[in-house]
Amino acid sequence: MNVIRFSDLCAQGQVTGKRVFIRADLNVPQDDAGVITEDTRIRASIPCIQLALDAGAAVMVTSHLGRPTEGEFKPADSLAPVAKRLAELMGREVPLLSNWVDGVSVQPGQLVLLENCRLNKGEKKNNEVLAKKMAALCDIFVHDAFGTAHRAEASTYGIAQFAKVACAGPLLAAEMDAITLALANPKRPLVAIVAGSKVSTKLTILKSLADKVDQLIVGGGIANTFMLAAGLKIGKSLAEHDLLADAKAVMDAMKARGAAVPIPTDVVTAKTFSADAVATVKAATEVADDDLILDIGPQTAAALAAQLKLAGTIVWNGPVGVFEFPAFENGTKVIAHAIAESSAFSIAGGGDTLAAIAKYGIEKQVGYISTGGGAFLEVLEGKTLPAFEILTRRAAESAAQLDAGM
Ligand code: 3PG
Repeated sequence: MNVIRFSDLCAQGQVTGKRVFIRADLNVPQDDAGVITEDTRIRASIPCIQLALDAGAAVMVTSHLGRPTEGEFKPADSLAPVAKRLAELMGREVPLLSNWVDGVSVQPGQLVLLENCRLNKGEKKNNEVLAKKMAALCDIFVHDAFGTAHRAEASTYGIAQFAKVACAGPLLAAEMDAITLALANPKRPLVAIVAGSKVSTKLTILKSLADKVDQLIVGGGIANTFMLAAGLKIGKSLAEHDLLADAKAVMDAMKARGAAVPIPTDVVTAKTFSADAVATVKAATEVADDDLILDIGPQTAAALAAQLKLAGTIVWNGPVGVFEFPAFENGTKVIAHAIAESSAFSIAGGGDTLAAIAKYGIEKQVGYISTGGGAFLEVLEGKTLPAFEILTRRAAESAAQLDAGM
């Protein structure tokens, strides 16, 4: 990756006394009362902030939270709970500044959090005036928001175009390195688990992985479409009938390479989609017209677990069943434990996957847990994310600015 790395600038003493603007991804889930329910992204953003503070910079950090309407502040869109959590985790005060685009008062050694950047008019569409104003706030722009690296917005892309120096933060660089390493020269067999409700949202990634992986395990609604394409009945389960040909093409492409998409041999069904629905295990050939498939069956789970234990590399995106309901969690639980017990290098990403990892307590046994959702998927698809495109493009110019002392 031909980008300037912020950690190198810190080590070279290029950051001392400088104004550093860090774009982090502090977009964390909250409950109805605004309490943060999962703080992985906040924790993952701290090393970059600490690096900047330790290097003696004046540090500004911003992030989006949700998808607010630009120019319309509502308390629910505020980063206030994030500021509080960050302050607890870092053991220091984290003042939250509103209306910051036209100027930020911050001294070397100080840290300020800038209110939800998606409240600024023009953020989403990467407005040039806004991006230039943000760039003018700093000497060094640090992109450390891997979760948002697939977006070209004013605080992720435009600011990188116009800042004197634009570089990659440690989280952004680590994410990219880990995913690239897992896919560029993977230890084989390479097994990918791609699950979720719809084939349509993951079709590109399924097609792209069909060229690379030795086994493509599909789950959730995606598996239903593949079961249909394999000639099985799925009752009233969620599926996309217009994508049967695409599913078939993925299976054929895999087969032609001697690779496989394992189709479930048994499933767990219910008559309604609810936590208290009666769960029935049946052979995949015996699904009734009024059945909903809500999980893979124990035989399928055991077979997949055996394959995962023999894998060299595992990429995991998506739970294979409705794991939020105890009666339909077995497949995801078995897969999670198999990944944990496998000696394969495993890499996992996506909101639901992170929730499953937390539920089964396997955080320490997963090789790399990505903070990205959509960004993780786009890297797996082989796309160059806007963040890396712009940081690469600005690398030479940024180096010249650094040489000139800025
Ligand atoms: C995410 O949650 O995946 C990132 O924070 C990106 O959020 P977005 O999809 O609203 O851009």
